[in-house]
Formats: sequence, structure tokens, C-alpha cells
Amino acid sequence: MDIGQSERPFPARLPLAVAAAYSLPQSVNTLNFAIIGCGGVTLQNHLPGLALCPGVKLVALCDADAATLERARQQTGAGVTTTRFEEVVERDDVHAVIIATPNFTHKPIALAAVARGKHVLCEKPLALNLAEAREMAGAAERAGVRHMTAFTYRFVPAMRYLAHLVERGDLGQPYHFRSCRLQDWGTRDLGWRQVKRLAGSGELGDMLSHRIDFAHLLVGPMKRLVANLKQWHPLRGGRPNDLDDWVAVLAEFANGATGVLESSKLASGRNESWRSLDYAEINGSERSFVFITGEWNKLQTGRVGGAGLETIEVPREFWKLPGAPRDVGVGDPLVTFRYDQAWEFVDAIRNQRPCRPSFHDGVRAQAVMEAAIRSAETRQWVELADGV
Ligand SMILES: NC(=O)c1ccc[n+]([C@@H]2O[C@H](COP(=O)([O-])OP(=O)(O)OC[C@H]3O[C@@H](n4cnc5c(N)ncnc54)[C@H](O)[C@@H]3O)[C@@H](O)[C@H]2O)c1
Repeated sequence: MDIGQSERPFPARLPLAVAAAYSLPQSVNTLNFAIIGCGGVTLQNHLPGLALCPGVKLVALCDADAATLERARQQTGAGVTTTRFEEVVERDDVHAVIIATPNFTHKPIALAAVARGKHVLCEKPLALNLAEAREMAGAAERAGVRHMTAFTYRFVPAMRYLAHLVERGDLGQPYHFRSCRLQDWGTRDLGWRQVKRLAGSGELGDMLSHRIDFAHLLVGPMKRLVANLKQWHPLRGGRPNDLDDWVAVLAEFANGATGVLESSKLASGRNESWRSLDYAEINGSERSFVFITGEWNKLQTGRVGGAGLETIEVPREFWKLPGAPRDVGVGDPLVTFRYDQAWEFVDAIRNQRPCRPSFHDGVRAQAVMEAAIRSAETRQWVELADGV
């Protein structure tokens, strides 16, 4: 994948004036990327997303598994391949890295990358625990690089429109947030995802983390929560599973609103893909809104005292991130919204502005995850520190 027009380097950290000069004609603005981890999410989201971005060149690929690395090399034509991430972050011709490896590797790779001045887009959950996530955010801030957490579902057009309506005040005072993510993964082997020391948590970090991010985006920080986690299958695919298959959180937000969040891998018959239920609802003093990922360009809404919910269309200007290079008429919209994530990262680097969502959003979600685990272990409500 080489759609850059020029080999002119784009240093990872630029003085503003120089950055402005670079940002004029995109043809002389090549931004060199490396991807670390070439598995499922890289093939699905990162490679096609980056391929659409003008002035971006994929120069290096890294995967610990040689066969996976070779498959990605053949698909992209990237010139440099390595099984060692250290070799990628040491390269002067790499300006930005995408970390798409199992959760336990996020911190060491991100710290190594920001120490060499690379901009970093890291997959969710940001880390194994809150202390790690904070360390990553602190290091990235100190290094002055752009940092982003891949909360991909923020980029669903209907979610972006909903966030806009809430921010505009259409909801009134938020009363309740609820979300429900229901999938049927049965008892199959989940690989590293079913091993605590590799994943940190199960359904909580894998799926609920995105919905915690919805809650933060739409309502704001949580103040306290009580949670439960349940593991139904100590064996998956005949191998030990030491993580949760189901999680639920009951939350109180700093603004007084209440939240109920549930996520399951064992909602039999609901299917495994993103086409299975991913529902969020917010009720306020003026209106309610219902979001369903599968209905990417629609919301349901009702007014206080009204007869029921009606469906509204998401205006076309929200069908993609402003400025994003993709054609909204091309591809399955339930897949292609994910490509806006790469554009957000690239645009933030070019314009030297914070990424949305940043590592700080990853830290906030991690704080809720950690509180949920503690609550489930202690059977107690857990208070969240201010600002997370
Ligand atoms: N944002 C989303 O919507 C989304 C979707 C899926 C996965 N994810 C996240 O992306 C990450 C990867 O998930 P996946 O489904 O692609 O997993 P995967 O198992 O399909 O791929 C991970 C790849 O990383 C490689 N790897 C492992 N350790 C490595 C190391 N030290 N250096 C280099 N490569 C290494 C593996 O060989 C594998 O090819 C996880 O953090 C996951 O939570 C996010």
C-alpha cells in the first residue's frame, strides 16, 4: 500500500510553522506508518482505513507470527517486515505506529514508540489495568506526540450524530444511559482473549469498553458503580478460560444521571458479528434517543409526553467524519465507518491537535473497567476518582 506521492519525510514532531507548511499540498506531505500486529483488526480496519488516506505510506509491518506477517506483506507490499517491534520503533523513517496486538503488549510497545517520538494509535482496551494506561498516557503527553485509543464505534455515523444532538442540548438534562451488547460466541476457543495475563479482562475489555466510551461521550464521567462479572465456561475450545463471558455495570454519573450497561458473549442465537445487537439509549428531560450500530444512519427519538418513538435519518453530512477521504457510497457502511478512525489519527497528526478519542479516553474507560472488576470481587459499590 503506497499511495503517497512523495518521499519527503514527515518528522514525528514538527514545530507548528513547519507543520503548517507541510500541511499545504498533501502530495508533499508523506506520513510514514508502521503497523504492529497484523491480525484480525488490522486486516479489517487499519489497512483499508490507511489505504484511503492521501499522503500516507505504509513503510513497515511487524507481527510476532511469521506467517501472519508474510500474508500482510503480500497484501500491502510494505518494504520492511519484522517480528520484533523494537526494530520498527527505532526506524527514523517511521513517523506513526498503529498497535494492534493482544492487550498485554500495548504498554511496552506504546512506551517504546513514544520514547522514539512516534505518534501512536493503540487498540482498545488501552492496557491491562489502570496503572498501565495512565503510564502510557503520561509518557505520550510528555513526548508531545499524538495519541489515540481505537474506540472505533464512536465513528458510527449515528453515534456521531447522537453525540452532536446531545451536545447541542436536544436531550435536556440526562436522566438515564443504557447499553446492551449481545453476541453469541458459544464456547469456542478465543485464543489470547481467554487468558487473563494476556487480555486483562474478558467481555468487559473486549466489548463493554466501547460502550463505556459511549457513556463517557454522551453523559460524561461516572462517579460510582457496582458491577458483576460472570464466567460460564472455564474451558473454551478445550483450553482454560479464566475470564468473564458476561458483565453488567450499574452506574451513577457525576451529573446525577444513572447508567445500566450489559454485555455478553453468550446470548445464544444472536450471532457473532457486529450485526448482532449493539444498542444504546439515552433518556433526558426533553427527549430520548435510541442508537443501534446496525442502523448506522438512523436514530429513534421521542419527546417527553409524546406518543412513542419515531425514526429519524442521520443527515448526510454526518455519514463520514468531516474531511474523511472515503466515498460514503462505496462498500458496506457497517464496515466502512471504521476507516474514519485512521483519518482522525492522520488529520490530528497533520494539524497537531489532540486525537478524539485520545489515550485519556482510554484511561477513563480503563478506570471504569478496573472499578467494575473491584466491585465484582468485593461485592461493593466503588467510587471513581474525579476526572476519570
Ligand atoms: N477497535 C475494535 O473495534 C477492535 C476490534 C477487534 C480487536 N480489537 C483490539 O485489537 C487488538 C488485536 O486484536 P485482534 O482481534 O486483531 O487479534 P489477533 O489475535 O487477530 O491479532 C493480533 C496479532 O498480534 C500479533 N502479536 C502478538 N504479540 C505480538 C508482539 N509482541 N509483536 C508483534 N505482533 C504481535 C499476533 O501474532 C497476531 O497476529 C486487541 O487489543 C483487541 O482488543 C479492537
